[in-house]
Amino acid sequence: MAERVEIFEVGPRDGLQNEAARIATRDKIALVNLLSEAGFSRIEVASFVSPKWVPQMADSGEVLRGIWRAPGVRYAALTPNMRGLNDALEAEADEVAIFGSASEGFSKANINATIDESLARFAPVLEAAGAEGLRVRGYVSCVVECPYDGPVDPGQVVRVAEALWQMGCYEISLGDTIGRGTPEAVDAMLAAVCDALPAERLAGHFHDTSGRALDNIEASLARGLRVFDAAVGGLGGCPYAPGAAGNVATEKVHERLATLGYETGLDADVLARAAEMARAMRGDG
Ligand code: HMG
Ligand code: MG
Repeated sequence: MAERVEIFEVGPRDGLQNEAARIATRDKIALVNLLSEAGFSRIEVASFVSPKWVPQMADSGEVLRGIWRAPGVRYAALTPNMRGLNDALEAEADEVAIFGSASEGFSKANINATIDESLARFAPVLEAAGAEGLRVRGYVSCVVECPYDGPVDPGQVVRVAEALWQMGCYEISLGDTIGRGTPEAVDAMLAAVCDALPAERLAGHFHDTSGRALDNIEASLARGLRVFDAAVGGLGGCPYAPGAAGNVATEKVHERLATLGYETGLDADVLARAAEMARAMRGDG
């Protein structure tokens, strides 16, 4: 039997948070509802951050409350602080995520905190989420390069990933936020992180700015990673990372994994329809 690899769909959050056009809440809900038919176990649909920082996510509560909840699918939300966690609980997110950075420059630009300040801010979120029985995922951004600080030392990635892990995150998603990673740089970074944390608890989160995301996924597979974040239709970017293109497209990852002999459990026809819907939403359909 083919080995299983999971694609974690992040298009409704990472994708739509960066679209210039205002996207109607009902369209976001329609996209999530279609994605819910594709066979994902987890879909990131919301982000409870300051609407001044990311206005595109201001309707996150309405989205979470408006979607159809497919059995067996967990609907996730970003929660940078206690305020975000409380909003996510109220909207009945199934799991939440905190997001830190391996580089100081991006940490400041993205969440207005140094790395150490951000870790201190996350600790009560982990504690309160745990008390509510909610799982928390941890993101580390800029795992190979930072738009402000340049190349990032793998040791810095290990430090932040380990801190999030020790706080209780069930999985650590390693983000090549600006998509500058090469397979060699990703491999060197993963060699360091996999010395500290189990590969089966890591996920790869590759933006496709330089067209190398699929090669970086292959490099990560070789290091034992079996979860990859992707956005249907290649939606997205990051508002605080100039030059960040969309996440690698879910349908491309699905296709590459199938070629490599892995099984994702996803329905290619539904993915194609969702990709079409995503492209139409951003006006290039
Ligand atoms: P701050 O200014 O330091 O925080 O921002 P604050 O506590 O002083 O609050 C400032 C204002 O925000 C206040 O409102 C708060 O009430 C409000 P005001 O008094 O000015 O009217 N506020 C909130 N509103 C709604 N929900 C909240 C919330 N918290 C405070 N949860 C903060 C700190 C973290 C809030 C801010 O920097 C922020 O919202 N940043 C979010 C940036 C973001 O969402 N970036 C994109 C997601 S990360 C990403 O895409 C990377 C990833 O994909 C992985 C990768 O690719 O590498 C995950
Ligand atoms: Mg991202």
